[in-house]
Amino acid sequence: MSDRQLPQGVGMTALVSAYARAQESGRAAPLVDDPLARAFVLAATGEPATAAERELPRLGPARDDADSPLWYSLCTMFVARAPFYDEVVLRAIGRGCRQVVLLGAGLDVRSHRLALPADTTVYEVDSADVLDFKESVLAGAGASARARRVLVPADVRARWSEALVGGGLDPAAPTVWIAEGLLPYVTAAEADAILADVTRLSAPTSSIGCDYLNRRARLDDYVSSDADEAATWRMLVTAGRTGPELEPYEWLSRQGWVPRRHDVLRLVRDAGREIPVLFEPARADPLRHWLVSATLPVPHPAGGLAAR
Ligand SMILES: C[S@@+](CC[C@H](N)C(=O)[O-])C[C@H]1O[C@@H](n2cnc3c(N)ncnc32)[C@H](O)[C@@H]1O
Repeated sequence: MSDRQLPQGVGMTALVSAYARAQESGRAAPLVDDPLARAFVLAATGEPATAAERELPRLGPARDDADSPLWYSLCTMFVARAPFYDEVVLRAIGRGCRQVVLLGAGLDVRSHRLALPADTTVYEVDSADVLDFKESVLAGAGASARARRVLVPADVRARWSEALVGGGLDPAAPTVWIAEGLLPYVTAAEADAILADVTRLSAPTSSIGCDYLNRRARLDDYVSSDADEAATWRMLVTAGRTGPELEPYEWLSRQGWVPRRHDVLRLVRDAGREIPVLFEPARADPLRHWLVSATLPVPHPAGGLAAR
């Protein structure tokens, strides 16, 4: 076992997301192929980086078998939304954007995985313990990024935007913002403040992708007779917050963005996967996972706004 410090508290969710990508990367025709995700999982579980077994060791709620409907629910959403976020980034890059900000970056390695032009800067905002763990594993794996990376250790509920600008972000140039899996861990007021800062730092044609739940998850959303599963669900419900109060279309358009809805369950179905039990739409008061992208329009010379 190495003396690496594991991310604590909500930072642990970064490991769980990486686990889903590691597991998915081992499948035929994966929805996301993340060659570094396995290294994070092995480092977190104390396995040697060379461990050859196909099956990943268990890690909190994550397990590399088909025995847990709860883990199936979570990992399916994580891997189904990953290509959506890749596309949000690559579309912006295609329009000439060269600033990417990963809010709650966790163990996201898009700066290594995606074909980003070398003059792109990827800002990775997360807590110091998550970023320290990430850097130590990436260094051990000898991984090299395709773009310039700037690490911004900060709490997105506090003064993170100063740290980002201090790290070099140019608010006069367009930015693509990715908040993948972050918003379910902040309150509605915190989410509003984050979006206000994002908007203030965004030049016209900037874009954003984010996801959150329609309501706070509750204990009775997932009842299991398996003690491990019940404990895992309790832990996730406790860590979760409301996220934005408004439905995504309204939340983003109120601050001047032009949003587009996306249907994550359709992404799941299109991938030939079963709809996860936790997000089954036929349930009473279903838990819905919202996925949205949006662009900030160019102000029109006559005073209106022109969408691009
Ligand atoms: C579910 S993980 C997603 C990580 C990554 N975006 C991905 O999809 O793999 C949520 C991430 O948000 C980060 N996070 C949660 N609350 C945060 C806060 N207040 N400030 C900074 N990061 C936060 C956690 O540390 C974690 O890395």
